[in-house]
Amino acid sequence: MKIAFFSSKPYDQVSFNNTNQRFHHELVFLEPRLTPDTVSLAAGFPAICAFINDDLGEAVLKQLAHNGTQYIALRCAGFNNINLEVARKLGLTVVRVPAYSPYAVAEHAVGLILMLNRKLYRAYNRVRDDNFALNGLLGFDLHGKTVGIIGTGKIGECFAKIMQGFGCRLLAHDPQENSVCLDLGVQYTDLPDLLTQADVISLHCPLVPDTYHLINTNSLVQIKPGAMLINTSRGGLIDTRAVIEALKTGQLGYFGTDVYEEEENLFFEDLSDTVIQDDTFQLLQSFPNVVITAHQAFFTQEALGNIATTTLDNLQALEKGKACTNQLCP
Ligand code: NAI
Repeated sequence: MKIAFFSSKPYDQVSFNNTNQRFHHELVFLEPRLTPDTVSLAAGFPAICAFINDDLGEAVLKQLAHNGTQYIALRCAGFNNINLEVARKLGLTVVRVPAYSPYAVAEHAVGLILMLNRKLYRAYNRVRDDNFALNGLLGFDLHGKTVGIIGTGKIGECFAKIMQGFGCRLLAHDPQENSVCLDLGVQYTDLPDLLTQADVISLHCPLVPDTYHLINTNSLVQIKPGAMLINTSRGGLIDTRAVIEALKTGQLGYFGTDVYEEEENLFFEDLSDTVIQDDTFQLLQSFPNVVITAHQAFFTQEALGNIATTTLDNLQALEKGKACTNQLCP
């Protein structure tokens, strides 16, 4: 099948070209992000492959259908960027990669916790500058602390296992209890109780209308003063302005994030020679107790290989008229 890849980077080309030796699809890699302005590039392609920050709203979907595209393959797990109802009405089939390495994301979340707690970013720069003083680097033992996990699906479960290894007490909030987590000793509770008790709160739930701004001014008032908040899920789970206010008062002690509400205008690009126009992002960056990474939690060799295999497999199944278990329905 002829597939147009939007938002493609050199590492996508390497992993997809390697994997495609088994599939023999025709892959065309396009650098631009999919938007109403770039959708015309998809003309003549029965399938397109899109990533996290591609725009798959109504206008783009209508144009894709008009151009003759039938299949949309998301090379990611989250699908908050696509209007599935409109896609269904237009007869577009949407597939995704539900799991490619929950370990990658869980391990990155733990990396953010250690980075913030032990101030590794400051320590690294200090030692390189021959400054061996310890003032300002004081951390805390994770052993014995309470970790609150919001969303205990595939990634939340991996995260729970790792944090149990640190000797943490584990609380979780999820409408669906996970039996592996229960066996680990995770205690399920409601969101207000988790927020009140947790020293570290980590988000592992999807961004859906119900979870938009799950962490907001009201929830930040409920957290334990000085708690740490980690977000490796989606930026829209958090009201960034509310987080900034809570950081300013000290109510929130640390914030580590791999995602940002307005990240589509920033992440995955080298903007080091430009003036960033997003004042909220710049203010967030200025806090000494904030660590931001640019949506790299998924970015491991294993994950890229699995993403390529599942995506090309999904499209092969659709091409052959077979049922695809990774198809998304509204
Ligand atoms: P999953 O579908 O296995 O688990 C999600 C869990 O969240 C489910 O158990 C679900 O019941 C729970 N949930 C739903 N609504 C909730 C709510 N209101 N409160 C608490 N829990 C709720 O998904 P998985 O694979 O664990 O991924 C989680 C999220 O991680 C994805 O939706 C995606 O947004 C994000 N992600 C981020 C990546 C990154 O590179 N930063 C890479 C991959 C995923």
